[in-house]
Amino acid sequence: MNTDELAKQMASGKFKAHLQKEFSPEAIRRMGELSANELRERLNQVISVPINLSGEMSHELLEFYYTASWYNIFEDRGLPRNASVFEVGAGDIVYIPKALNAYSAGQGGKYVTANLNNELTMNFREKTQGMQVDVEIIQDDGANILNYYSEESFEVIAFHHALNDIIQTIIAGIEGIDTVNNNWWTIEPQLLQAVMSYHNSGELKDAAYEPFIHIIDTCNRLLKKGGYMIFDNCTYAGYEELGYSSDFHSAYINLAREWIKEANLGLEEVKMPSYDDKWWMVLRKV
Ligand SMILES: C[S@@+](CC[C@H](N)C(=O)[O-])C[C@H]1O[C@@H](n2cnc3c(N)ncnc32)[C@H](O)[C@@H]1O
Repeated sequence: MNTDELAKQMASGKFKAHLQKEFSPEAIRRMGELSANELRERLNQVISVPINLSGEMSHELLEFYYTASWYNIFEDRGLPRNASVFEVGAGDIVYIPKALNAYSAGQGGKYVTANLNNELTMNFREKTQGMQVDVEIIQDDGANILNYYSEESFEVIAFHHALNDIIQTIIAGIEGIDTVNNNWWTIEPQLLQAVMSYHNSGELKDAAYEPFIHIIDTCNRLLKKGGYMIFDNCTYAGYEELGYSSDFHSAYINLAREWIKEANLGLEEVKMPSYDDKWWMVLRKV
């Protein structure tokens, strides 16, 4: 969502009733003191390419940006308040459950994530404890979700900054790197370098297309007709020094767009005017 629109919506009080409850009283107070222009400027300092987390309150602003952007898509698409959302590879990031928690506003709603890494799953469990919305964590590959839930049972499939994690996990599987038991951040440089090496030698598609499309096809079968598959993928600062190309990372949404189109799965792209399609992709199951 562009930061102009977000700052305007915040100033209009749109998020007061529900979304703002997801933040600490101190963060709400400080954001509330900013005019729409000031908030837009502060958001622009963080929501840049690459994402800049060096400034004051930048983590809170990033979280606000993502939870509000997802909340806004749920609203724009007219999802029922008791919608069910499946996220692949949440790690320990809780923006989507928070967005759904706010959107459902106590009227039901179910959130499920398939998340492989042990330690991140444990952190995620702690962070979502006591949420009003029903949260379930399945420690398995997203490709196996139909072992747990039946076809056409979810309104939304969410991929928040997960395309890279999914491709890294696929390549790690080939390379024999354990992404379940290791600390994710310890092995991250190895994961990134492995993906870069497949990309640089022109072997990435041969290695990753089929398992990636298998996950998307499975998620598509999980999705109700008329439901949405939603992706975001930003670029963070600080990865070039690990030999990981920001240009490559910044093209992830387009790579997924091309591969999913090629696989012809019956998904059509919905244009969202205030969402940049380089960083966002919303697909509807026809
Ligand atoms: C670093 S976290 C990413 C969190 C979040 N997507 C973000 O970037 O804000 C990566 C997580 O994705 C999980 N993951 C990657 N591929 C997966 C798959 N196919 N099924 C389930 N989890 C997966 C990893 O195991 C790990 O827990």
